[in-house]
Amino acid sequence: MSPRLAGKVAIVTGAASGIGKAGASLFASEGAEVVVADINQDAGRSVSEAINAAGFRAIFVPLDVHDTASVEEMVRTVMKHSGRIDVLFHNVVNARMVNQQDRRCTELPEDVWLEIVDVVLNGTYRCCKAIGREMIRQQSGSIVLSATVDALVGCAGYDAYTAAKGGVVSMTRSLAAGLARDRRLPKLCRNRTTARMA
Ligand SMILES: NC(=O)c1ccc[n+]([C@@H]2O[C@H](COP(=O)([O-])OP(=O)(O)OC[C@H]3O[C@@H](n4cnc5c(N)ncnc54)[C@H](O)[C@@H]3O)[C@@H](O)[C@H]2O)c1
Repeated sequence: MSPRLAGKVAIVTGAASGIGKAGASLFASEGAEVVVADINQDAGRSVSEAINAAGFRAIFVPLDVHDTASVEEMVRTVMKHSGRIDVLFHNVVNARMVNQQDRRCTELPEDVWLEIVDVVLNGTYRCCKAIGREMIRQQSGSIVLSATVDALVGCAGYDAYTAAKGGVVSMTRSLAAGLARDRRLPKLCRNRTTARMA
C-alpha cells in the first residue's frame, strides 16, 4: 500500500516538541515532505534531522508566530523549496508561560494576557492567513488547528489560554466556511477543531 500522503507538503508548526513533533514524524512516515517550523531552532533542526535519518523527508524552517514577517518568510521559503503547501498542522503554544503565569483574570497581569493571546490566537490568524492564501491559489489544502477541551468546558486559573483557544475553535468554524467558498467543489468537514478544504 502506498503512503497516504505521498507527494504532499505538510507544514507542522510547533514541531520542535510534543504533539507537533509527533505529528511531524507521523506525516513524514505517511510519505509527506514535512516542514518542521518552530521558534526553537536547535530542537527543530534535531526533529528534521531525525526524520531524514529515518529515511523520510523533512526540512527545518525557523518561525516566530509573534511576527507576521517571520510567518510570511516561512511561506516564501516553503514555496521556493517545495512549490506547494497541502497541509498546515498548527500546534504553537507558549506552554511555560501558560502553565506558570496564566491566572483568573482578576489576578492576571495584562502583559501575560496579551502575550498568551498573541501567540495562541493572533499566531493562528497569521499562519492561516499566509498559508490559506497559497491554498486558495492552489484550490486545495487542509488546515488542522490544535485547540483544547479546556476552551469548551472552562479551566479555573487559565483565563488567557482558554479565551485564546476558544477564539481558535470559533475561528476554525468560520475559516472552514469562508475557505470552502473558494473551492469549485466544496467539501466541508465541520469537525470542532479541523478545517478541511479537500
Ligand atoms: N499537551 C497537552 O496536554 C495539550 C492538551 C490540549 C491541547 N494542547 C494543544 O496542543 C498544541 C501542542 O501542545 P504541546 O503540549 O505539544 O506543546 P509543546 O510546548 O510541547 O510545543 C509547543 C511548541 O511551540 C513552539 N513555540 C512556542 N512559541 C512559539 C512561537 N512564538 N513561534 C513558533 N513556535 C513557538 C515551542 O518551541 C514548542 O516546540 C498546543 O496548541 C496546545 O495548546 C496540548
